[in-house]
Amino acid sequence: MAKAKKLFIKTYGCQMNVYDSERMVEAMNSEGYVTTKNVEEADMVLLNTCHIREKASEKLYSDLGRLRAFKDIKPDLKIGVAGCVAQAEGEEIMRRMPLVDMVVGPQSYHQLPEMNRRLDKGQKAINTEFPAGDKFDHLPERKGLRGPSAFLTVQEGCDKFCSFCVVPYTRGAEVSRPTDRLLTEAHNLVEKGVRELTLLGQNVNAYHGRSKDGAWNLARLIRELAKIDGLERIRYTTSHPNDMGTELIAAHGDEPKLMPYLHLPVQSGSDRILKAMNRKHGRDSYLRLIESIRTVRPDILLSSDFIVGFPGETDADFTDTLDLIRTVGFGQSYSFKYSARPGTPAAEKTPIPTDIADDRLQQIQSLLLKQQRSIQSDMVGHEVSVLYEKKGRIAGQMVGKSNHLHAVHVHDPDAKVGDLVRVRIVESGPNSLGGKRL
Ligand code: SAH
Ligand code: SF4
Ligand code: F3S
Repeated sequence: MAKAKKLFIKTYGCQMNVYDSERMVEAMNSEGYVTTKNVEEADMVLLNTCHIREKASEKLYSDLGRLRAFKDIKPDLKIGVAGCVAQAEGEEIMRRMPLVDMVVGPQSYHQLPEMNRRLDKGQKAINTEFPAGDKFDHLPERKGLRGPSAFLTVQEGCDKFCSFCVVPYTRGAEVSRPTDRLLTEAHNLVEKGVRELTLLGQNVNAYHGRSKDGAWNLARLIRELAKIDGLERIRYTTSHPNDMGTELIAAHGDEPKLMPYLHLPVQSGSDRILKAMNRKHGRDSYLRLIESIRTVRPDILLSSDFIVGFPGETDADFTDTLDLIRTVGFGQSYSFKYSARPGTPAAEKTPIPTDIADDRLQQIQSLLLKQQRSIQSDMVGHEVSVLYEKKGRIAGQMVGKSNHLHAVHVHDPDAKVGDLVRVRIVESGPNSLGGKRL
């Protein structure tokens, strides 16, 4: 048998890319590749890129710069660029970067084996089309041993067109995967030991997948997945406030397998800025939504995304954002300085001075961190469930995630990865909690 070739894959950006990278690895397995963590021994390097902010997409070019030395030593090293930068700048990458052999957009991964064969013939390959149908249909079934927690992409793309965002252009229009494929994939994963599924989509709560009895929304999909024996936990991300339907909210109240954690990006607390962002929700409607979710699930941990320094953001707008944060109380959040992205409507507007944006970012991050730490310390004394994901650094220690998605360390020498246990939280550190097995 021919010696297996080595694939080095680097993943940037969101969880969707993490999922896609797994699927690309499986597609390349069927082409005789195994993965390596050592770029020096790679026969192929795949960079699965992110275009969301300028800094994210610049990483591709600096990594390509570093790869040039490897290709000089090993001229038959194949270099492929996948993901959202590939989609947005694919042809330019091919033109400007002669060391790149292949460019493949996020909707074309099923073409990888065929593209790889073209590379074997010494040709270059580029594919950034948006074909109809499920790109995952033509990829091999997910196999191989995995940890107890897995991602499952249920929906891709976005029709919202927030004025700052590239996702509708790089991932295309909203597409939901049919329910039978998802149930099959979920069953397969559970058979392989998965106990927690995180359903993924750029707009996951807009899910409307085809099934034998009409379209299912996300709430229906969650309820069906919850019937799978052995699957203990369900999460989903990322949601848009306008798609939080009543059935989905209700599921948070009465579906025990649906975890008490919700990532619900708000971006800003100012109605004026939300309008300029084309978010199509207001400050009050967001606050009302949070209230109705907390009514059915009082202990839910909320997380969000914020953009500061959006064009036209005044001190008063920014104060509104800080005020919204104080009103809601977020357990975990991401905040970003606005980054103008070519081709988006907001990029046409006059930016606000960098030092003001930097200062706001610092303020918002310190407030969010303070909230996060305080919500985390409040967990001390509480009983939570923890799903062990790996062994800790100290002998006999296990590390896992609580139902609220906090990382928890537990001394539990007889336990194994995949165990779901009851734990009392006894201490709160900077980035994780410590617990005692009950
Ligand atoms: N639908 C996904 C989108 C991923 S983008 C989601 O809502 O999570 C993740 C976050 O990146 C967005 O919520 C937003 O806060 C941030 N973001 C997107 N475009 C940005 C830009 N141009 N500048 C700064 N942050 C941006
Ligand atoms: Fe981007 Fe807005 Fe769509 Fe989220 S909802 S992916 S921020 S356009
Ligand atoms: Fe980045 Fe594309 Fe995800 S731009 S955040 S990798 S959808």
